Amino acid sequence: MLGDLPAVDIHRHLDGNIRPETIWTLAAKHNIALPARSLEALLPLCQIQDKTADLLAFLARLDYGISVLADVDACYQIAYENMQDAQQEGLDYVELRFSPYYMAQTHQLNIADVVAATVQGCADGERDFGVKHNLIGILSRTFGTEACTQELNGLLAHKAHITALDLAGDELGFPAPLFVNHFKQARDAGWQITVHAGEADGPQSIWNAIELLGANRIGHGVAAREDEQLMAYLAEHHIGIESCPTSNYQTATVVDTPNHPMKQFLEAGIEVTLNTDDPGISAITLADEYTVARDVIKLSDEQLKQVQINGVNQAFLSAADKQSLF
Ligand code: ADE
Ligand code: ZN
Repeated sequence: MLGDLPAVDIHRHLDGNIRPETIWTLAAKHNIALPARSLEALLPLCQIQDKTADLLAFLARLDYGISVLADVDACYQIAYENMQDAQQEGLDYVELRFSPYYMAQTHQLNIADVVAATVQGCADGERDFGVKHNLIGILSRTFGTEACTQELNGLLAHKAHITALDLAGDELGFPAPLFVNHFKQARDAGWQITVHAGEADGPQSIWNAIELLGANRIGHGVAAREDEQLMAYLAEHHIGIESCPTSNYQTATVVDTPNHPMKQFLEAGIEVTLNTDDPGISAITLADEYTVARDVIKLSDEQLKQVQINGVNQAFLSAADKQSLF
């Protein structure tokens, strides 16, 4: 990561970046049982060292953090701490995404209240830690279309504080055609669109994200490498790919990290960006991902620089706000 260019992470789940210490203390505060006798014993459960079997096995690791969100104050706290983490990592701008249905689910919180607490935690964090941010609402497809309608309504209740809508979760089980109406509402609300696609499923899932949901960016997009026409389309239409190589290894989306398609995408002229996905689960920072991109994926210095600039270009910010990051 070059210090003279803005450090930007535009694909980071705040509910996949809950500090293990916070999981531990919130569990104690709210008398919530965790399957570990100490914080040290919790770490191997809520963090991933190597790869998991598949995306769903990876996503199950987020459940420990979610299980301690006993009230909206807890949601506020994790949002606020995400902003502090961003400052400690040296980020200039972060797009934090979150699934309010998922966060609300265990303790039956009100979804719109979860959104409000998350918005406030991030706003207070920006004020206190000086990192600019935007929020992306997630529809967690794993819970089905009806849950996603509730989730969308909770997000729309705070429409002005949300920049974009994302579709995350079980890509194979709940494909994009199920969510056409949800995303029409999101576009009508003036939100931008990013979709997790081509992570667990093939290139058709990416075409669907673009053609059916109106995606401006694609989360992961690994499967685009199987479709040359798609790669050309992404490049021509400036649809950025939010790459997260450590996550892609851990979810078994790529067989091994040297095999990651970032380099191929850059050579095809696609605006690839570099991001962390769920840094609390993967136990990584954005700087770690730049090291992986340089040392393992073998991006050249010029390509690394391009990736960092792409992060700014693809950010859901006005041209003036992008300029102000430099
Ligand atoms: N939610 C959190 N991380 C995710 C990922 N990598 N894919 C889909 N949904 C997610
Ligand atoms: Zn993600």
